[in-house]
Amino acid sequence: MFPTTRLRRLRQHPQLRDMLRETTLSPRDFILPLFVRFGRGERIPISSMPGHAQLTVDHLADEVREIASLGIPAVILFGIPEHKDAVGSDACSDSGIIPQAIQAIKEATPELLVITDVCFCEFTDHGHCGIVVETGGHADVDNDATLEILGRQAVAHARAGADMVAPSGMMDGMVRAIRTRLDEAGFAQLPVMSYAAKYASAFYGPFREAAESAPQFGDRRTYQMDPANAREAMREVQLDVAEGADLLMVKPALSYLDVIERVKSAYPELPLAAYNVSGEFAMVKAAAANGWLDERRTSLEVLTSIKRAGADVILTYHAKDACRWLEG
Ligand code: PBG
Repeated sequence: MFPTTRLRRLRQHPQLRDMLRETTLSPRDFILPLFVRFGRGERIPISSMPGHAQLTVDHLADEVREIASLGIPAVILFGIPEHKDAVGSDACSDSGIIPQAIQAIKEATPELLVITDVCFCEFTDHGHCGIVVETGGHADVDNDATLEILGRQAVAHARAGADMVAPSGMMDGMVRAIRTRLDEAGFAQLPVMSYAAKYASAFYGPFREAAESAPQFGDRRTYQMDPANAREAMREVQLDVAEGADLLMVKPALSYLDVIERVKSAYPELPLAAYNVSGEFAMVKAAAANGWLDERRTSLEVLTSIKRAGADVILTYHAKDACRWLEG
């Protein structure tokens, strides 16, 4: 028998299977995204993301207790404010939807790590990730004006008790701007996880329904990357590392396993996150609902591949299911 065959047989042995496996998933690998909505007593299901809902702050305590009891160490928060305007005022307010959510979560489960998404698309009435200006007859995001408000948003989250902030807007200089503002405000210890390589992806579709953040005109291609480019991702990552990012992220995950691999090889010393985004989740859910795929096997295979590619942590809407499957 050839050695590869013998080894594969050996790996079927129940005692050796786990011992010899190159990649193992654990609940400790997951960060679960949560959508927090203004108002009271509401839990509004997100139709394109079965099992997920927009929750009002009063529903958070029960939700996070369940999350913590499953062994999931962290959540990342997205907010849907009552009022949206051109500059996303709620995002910078100490009494905004995200600060309220952080306080509620910290009260219920102090041990749960609370990460916040730092971006404006959920807070602006035009749905873009920052301040929009007219230049040469068409509207576009003003990168540098946006840096200013990103800093204010991050500080508001820090004051409310966030454990980590995650800028996702792909603005140039966002990591440095946020780092500077956090340091000035006395939060030098607060880590920044940068969505360093984020693509202009069709896989964000369900999220934009969930977060009510679809751009009202144009698209995000002036600030998010072309899916065809991987070398460009390395340049984005390099800039964020130089600006002081503590953790890096590649997003989406499944169509970008090569990018995950490249980033991990280039910066093995930096923790790397990968975002298994809404469309990747919805795809598996829809196929499973039709009986075309086995949801458990498919999503554990997807998550394992993301980790195998080099991700240290995975942001995934399958986190709760995966914990139950891994236990069972
Ligand atoms: C932007 C943001 C987006 C996602 C996370 N942060 C959407 C976008 O860029 O339009 C998408 C995540 C997902 O699809 O699950 N703040």
